[in-house]
Amino acid sequence: MKLIVVDDYERLSREAARLVARRLLERPDLILALPTGDTPLGMYRELVRLFREGLLDFSSAICFNLDEYLGIPPDHPESFASYMRRHLWGQVDLRPENAHIPHSLPRDPEAECRRYEELIRRVGGIDLAVLGIGENGHIAFNEPGTPFESLTHVAELSEDTRKAEADRFGGLERVPQRAITMGIRTIMSARQILLLVSGEEKAKVLARALQGPVTPEVPASALQLHPNLTVLADAAAASRLTGSRISRGAR
Ligand code: PGA
Repeated sequence: MKLIVVDDYERLSREAARLVARRLLERPDLILALPTGDTPLGMYRELVRLFREGLLDFSSAICFNLDEYLGIPPDHPESFASYMRRHLWGQVDLRPENAHIPHSLPRDPEAECRRYEELIRRVGGIDLAVLGIGENGHIAFNEPGTPFESLTHVAELSEDTRKAEADRFGGLERVPQRAITMGIRTIMSARQILLLVSGEEKAKVLARALQGPVTPEVPASALQLHPNLTVLADAAAASRLTGSRISRGAR
């Protein structure tokens, strides 16, 4: 595992974008898994800036979102499809047919999970998966207790996760109960993983994930078993990590 600690959120965002940009330049047909949430917003803003300055090109890249809510229309403002259109897809030259996300209103959710997993397999698997972590240790919508061997599946959202989203939806009762998410095995099959973690409220879970026991109770602890993991954290998020493995990142 490579752990990079930077001073603050701005540096984290720049460093994350740089890492993705470097991989895209090496391999324009890169296959990415991409997250939503607050943490990656700065990374997307920086990637869009690099694209506008002519330094990056997404025209051959293939992107798969980690997850999507079930039961709201794809054009609902809080759907992850809408988020991705706002922050990346609509801002760069990614081809629409290469912007993949599970459908939020599939006729048969189980069939949609199989279709998504198969699509990832058919393009040869994910080169780089960018992830965030929930305060309860979830990665994508793999909530505590999800088996490590899970593939793309329908997930029941935990109460904690739904509460964290209540403001965005205008009340807990409006937050979807279910989602389709890549499984832990789907994510762990990526050839490289970049975990982004920002803020003091993530410090405790980051320490549990990286330095606690590997257990389905902390889904992100599975990442300890990944052969090519980079953790990019700001100082606040890294504040509860102990030991000598911590390296200070680029300024
Ligand atoms: P956040 O979400 O970036 O909005 O904190 C991360 C997550 O819950 O996976």
